Amino acid sequence: MDPFGRTIDYLRISVTDRCNERCLYCMPGGYRGWGQKESHLTPGEIARIVEAAVGAGFRKFRLTGGEPLLRRDIVEIASGIQKVPGVEWLALSTNGILLAPLAEELRAAGISSVNISLDALSPETYRKITGGPVEKVLEGIHAAQAVGFPSIKLNCVLMRGINEGEIWPLVEFAAGHGLPLRFIELMPLTRTDVLNGENFFPVAEAESLLSRRDTLVPHGEKLGNGPARYRRLEKTGAVVGFIGAITAPDFCESCNKVRLTPDGKLRPCLGRHGELDLLPALRNGGDLAALFQETVANKPKDHGFSESYKPGRPMTAIGG
Ligand code: 5AD
Ligand code: SF4
Repeated sequence: MDPFGRTIDYLRISVTDRCNERCLYCMPGGYRGWGQKESHLTPGEIARIVEAAVGAGFRKFRLTGGEPLLRRDIVEIASGIQKVPGVEWLALSTNGILLAPLAEELRAAGISSVNISLDALSPETYRKITGGPVEKVLEGIHAAQAVGFPSIKLNCVLMRGINEGEIWPLVEFAAGHGLPLRFIELMPLTRTDVLNGENFFPVAEAESLLSRRDTLVPHGEKLGNGPARYRRLEKTGAVVGFIGAITAPDFCESCNKVRLTPDGKLRPCLGRHGELDLLPALRNGGDLAALFQETVANKPKDHGFSESYKPGRPMTAIGG
């Protein structure tokens, strides 16, 4: 339990800060930062960190990045985590580009839930946002469905003037494929300049846009372990989640997570500075579980996005 009564049992592990896309809201110029392989934790180190996390009460884990599938040892990382006793749930967040050829091995390695970013269906708009080919992502989605991950969700970051025209096509695609789709508010994670009064698109507006074409009813079942609020669209049958990272006043009340960076630092909050370095303890036999407890004890009440939070390092280096 953290100082605000929240149970913190979910660790998001960023395994690399590198990416094969360059999303407008993340690293539009492409990212050539400190992504040397040597600074990345090895699969064995990640498994030891997960063991310590379990000792501190963590039960749920997600692999993220950057783009986690860029690591050649991603399957080894996943199966190493899955083997740690006490791990109840292992998930993956990916942009989907490299998913098709890896889906089967990832499923076999114990990943049960996959979140795939899909900000647009139109190839032109998708390329404008991410720099990549949407066809590969669609192949990835089909492959993930074919190998039968118990949970697959689609994520769309809303940007006014860029992908609002994609909202309805994405809902129809999600309904047609029987996949939940979440709309996420743009956050100032890597750069502050992408989030301004002009391109910010609140989830409430997406919701009212959808209610003009369909009837939205509360969807009781909680899907996954994130902060989304779900609705079912009666006519299309789509299940749509809304992640009001900026506008939802209670967004942080249900926070259950801590993040691990690719170079071994624990972040209590995505929207506040402050990190705790695990490497000295990891490499000199210190008490890792105590560092997890300290991180949980230091979790802030809420993020600082509405104040003056300026990202110190890119989202991709913190873990999406
Ligand atoms: N604002 C909101 N969502 C973001 N993501 C990455 N950067 C941002 C941002 N600045 C999303 C990705 C992905 C998830 C891991 O985080 O699109 O769906
Ligand atoms: Fe890559 Fe994800 Fe960042 Fe896009 S949001 S550039 S896919 S890490």
